[in-house]
Amino acid sequence: MQKSIFNYIEGASLTLRFKACDLDPDKVSSEIGEIISKMNILTSQQKDEFVVATIEALLNARDHGCFELNSKEKGKDLYSPNTYEDKRQKRMKDPKLGNREVQVSINIDANKISIQVKDPGHGIPKKLSHPKDLRPYGMGIKLMRKLADRLIIKQSPSRVILVKYRRSNNE
Ligand SMILES: Nc1ncnc2c1ncn2[C@@H]1O[C@H](COP(=O)(O)OP(=O)(O)OP(=O)(O)O)[C@@H](O)[C@H]1O
Ligand SMILES: [Mg+2]
Repeated sequence: MQKSIFNYIEGASLTLRFKACDLDPDKVSSEIGEIISKMNILTSQQKDEFVVATIEALLNARDHGCFELNSKEKGKDLYSPNTYEDKRQKRMKDPKLGNREVQVSINIDANKISIQVKDPGHGIPKKLSHPKDLRPYGMGIKLMRKLADRLIIKQSPSRVILVKYRRSNNE
């Protein structure tokens, strides 16, 4: 019997646009994961990796790119005062920052799925600091690099592109 048409899609592209104040990275990424599952284009593990990497890219675009939050506000460690969340709540309500847009473009072809996350901020610095002691931040880009098959970072405008190559679920 013929399977669902989701199994026969060879290529697709999708563009989503969010106001920073409305953007819920977990929800968006898990819904993208549901589409990937329906289309059966990645193994279940690859799909989970793609979803987690997408959450990190969206968090960065919203918090750093749109709200201009500095991770140092998260505090030196988990016990230090944390002003990050308070500032995030305030900036979300500030129309100038809250109305900034995050654009997400997903492209699927016979070989791969890629997602581009674009924000209107100043861009991801070329040189990222590597603090010697453990901090409760600074893991997002490292995680994206681990989870994606390719990670491309571009500036002006700020863009992150995550790529996963398609493998059959039987491999
Ligand atoms: N879209 C962006 N726009 C501007 N700066 C960015 C953006 N994404 C990342 N950065 C900068 O790169 C740094 C490293 O990002 P990364 O995601 O690795 O860590 P983090 O966001 O600070 O903390 P974590 O992701 O672990 O919660 C950020 O602190 C921020 O200064
Ligand atoms: Mg981050």
